[in-house]
Amino acid sequence: MNRQVGPLMKGLWGVFLLVLLPTLSLAQPTAAPTSMSDAEATQRANALLRRMTLAEKIGQMEQTAGQPMYTPSAEADRLASSGESGNFLFFTDPVRINELQKLAVTKTRLHIPLTFGYDVIHGFRTIAPIPLAMASSWDPALVTRTTAMAAREARAAGITLAFGPMVDIARDARWGRIMEGAGEDPYLGSRMAAAQVRGFQGDYIGAPGHILACVKHFAGYGAANGGRDYDETDISDELLWNVYLPPFHAAVKAGAATFMSAYQSLNGVPATGNAWLLRDVLRNTWGFKGAVLSDWDSVKSLQTHGFASSAADAAIRAARAGVNMEMTSTTYRDHLPEAVKKGEISEATIDALVLPILKLKYQMGLFANPYVDVERFRRETGSPEQRRAARVAAEQTAVLLRNENHLLPLSKSLRSIAVIGPLADSKLDTMGSWAIHGDRRDTVTVADGLRQLLPQTQIAVTKGVEIERGSPTIFDEQVPPEKLQFTTPAEKKAEFDRALDLARQADVSILVLGEAQTMSGENASRARLSLPGEQEKLLQAVTALGKPVVLVLMTGRPLDISWAAEHVPAILNIWYPGTEGGHAVANLLFGEANPSGHLPVTWPREAGQEPLFYNYKLPQNPENTAHRYWDLTSSPLYPFGYGLSYSSFSLSNVAVNSPQVKPGTPLRATVTLRNTSRVAGAQVVQLYVHQRAGGASRPNRELKAFEKVMLAPGESRDVTLTVPAQELSYWSPVLRHQVLEPGTFDVWVGFDSTTDNHATFQVTAGLDDMTAVAK
Ligand code: BGC
Repeated sequence: MNRQVGPLMKGLWGVFLLVLLPTLSLAQPTAAPTSMSDAEATQRANALLRRMTLAEKIGQMEQTAGQPMYTPSAEADRLASSGESGNFLFFTDPVRINELQKLAVTKTRLHIPLTFGYDVIHGFRTIAPIPLAMASSWDPALVTRTTAMAAREARAAGITLAFGPMVDIARDARWGRIMEGAGEDPYLGSRMAAAQVRGFQGDYIGAPGHILACVKHFAGYGAANGGRDYDETDISDELLWNVYLPPFHAAVKAGAATFMSAYQSLNGVPATGNAWLLRDVLRNTWGFKGAVLSDWDSVKSLQTHGFASSAADAAIRAARAGVNMEMTSTTYRDHLPEAVKKGEISEATIDALVLPILKLKYQMGLFANPYVDVERFRRETGSPEQRRAARVAAEQTAVLLRNENHLLPLSKSLRSIAVIGPLADSKLDTMGSWAIHGDRRDTVTVADGLRQLLPQTQIAVTKGVEIERGSPTIFDEQVPPEKLQFTTPAEKKAEFDRALDLARQADVSILVLGEAQTMSGENASRARLSLPGEQEKLLQAVTALGKPVVLVLMTGRPLDISWAAEHVPAILNIWYPGTEGGHAVANLLFGEANPSGHLPVTWPREAGQEPLFYNYKLPQNPENTAHRYWDLTSSPLYPFGYGLSYSSFSLSNVAVNSPQVKPGTPLRATVTLRNTSRVAGAQVVQLYVHQRAGGASRPNRELKAFEKVMLAPGESRDVTLTVPAQELSYWSPVLRHQVLEPGTFDVWVGFDSTTDNHATFQVTAGLDDMTAVAK
């Protein structure tokens, strides 16, 4: 793969203005419990470090890409046996992993085991829905469970380090990697970040069946100019602290063991050489004690950023900034020994970088037991239990966007169904991007799922149109794309007509449209958000037949479905649902499961609206925000937090139980949620706040709490949402630290970010109270 491109205060408002020094206000990370105490691991790592030569130390700071396509096998063997590389990535075969481990522990002088990293983004062999879909569940416990299942499969193969979670906030659907994160919101993103860290790592570092999390990409990668992957990001300090950094901080508080520096330049300084980010913020302010990895070649590319003057300078700058481990490029190995000799970097700096790597190897139990049980790997991967977890996740993550006249769920007594679209029967696309190790043969497509659920129904499946990206992707070698079936104009026309014929003959048409998996993910940004190829034309032609049509959308990002949103009665967005996607979709379409996903991103009408997000600062004429363009409504097609269900729900007016909020006295808001339908279902109750006035303008609305509640038909429940006072604080661009400002706040509780179920409360507090909380 060519990754070259990848590369707080009293005063101003009187006695009530509160000051929260960042270090005090932001709770310090509670050190995650480990299989080996932190003190013991530190002591052992230090003892080992004292015996190591400089070359051996620097070997521990290298991570080499495996698989013959990056490093020939003999060379990987040599690097492992010589200790020149203490870490590898992209090995997935447990037999080969054991072989390399054996070389490292038997041939190197100090018998130091290797770590093996891999992109366990939404599964290993059993693929779960993509992370953006998982965020749509609004169910952190589900996310933890599903991530833990992925960790288990990966650990069984010998992988010790997941390159995830990806916690980049993304406010622009053109950016291909929006599919890898939790969307646009810092609060939801923080909850999802912590949930994934817990899923990967378990209760402590080294927990059996778990692996190290690597939180990426630090930081600001998702704000690429124009949504163009890898391009620079310019993010104000206010947005950085209040929007882009919180999920990273949440991951540190959850005990994340490692971080990955981002590719891009952040406010002029490449992230991988950014000492402010990697040292001042991550380690000194947040107290992170783990290891920072670079991204692929991102140390070497400090040069191409026009930042470092040479490869040697790149190595020195990354090391000084605090990058413990270099991924794939070898500037550390090639240049740090000489730099130490010349006094350009001290050996003490090298030691401080190596120490966390050795500690993690101890805590992961690799010194005690470097090998994996290959039989266990065979038993545990792709197991029915894994598949069940993937199916449940897919059912919980689909978002029902439209359902006119209750077209869905469909009746199981339908005689015939036409299943149409390029994605209807594509195993590869159903898994989605970043499913490199997923076995497409395991995958259940929408067509498969329908056939299995409805053996008595006549099900005709055809593509209608084909889609192709039309330009190479960096993954083509690892995941060879499928070949097109219809190439001549005549073949294409015949296939289009065939689809129309099948739709004409069927009781219902289910169109599975969207993006092929190559069209989202890394290196997959788009200028347009339209349905690729002739898919909309097909959708229009089928809809024109006047028979019932359901659009099942398979995608890694919001797409321009403005036409469908007006003309197609039912739209179910399934994102990329993974290995068990087809079973989940069939269950959802036929009422065996009830959609409960809600959007973690604002859904635009067209690409020209991007970046589009719900938590904007109020302008001088807020009443006109939907009319900012003369040629298009500027409001979203679907708002953040939106999602329908087969159940219907009512919600009482919001009652604020704690009208006076201060440190130690959180906001408590109660609503009564009732399932007013005959169908059991889950609803996501969401709480948004707005600070009316203060030292700076605060967003129109900000999500601060949510709860997913499952109700039986007719059941009602009181739901109390609690927001600690600290959650109402923000980083002030005026005072340049975290503040909690007393005053009037609005609160809304409802089913999406546009709810008008409103009340108010006051933040009142004294400095002393705040200091007490900060401690
Ligand atoms: C991506 C990372 C990924 C790494 C290893 C890079 O190109 O930016 O997210 O973990 O490759 O695959």
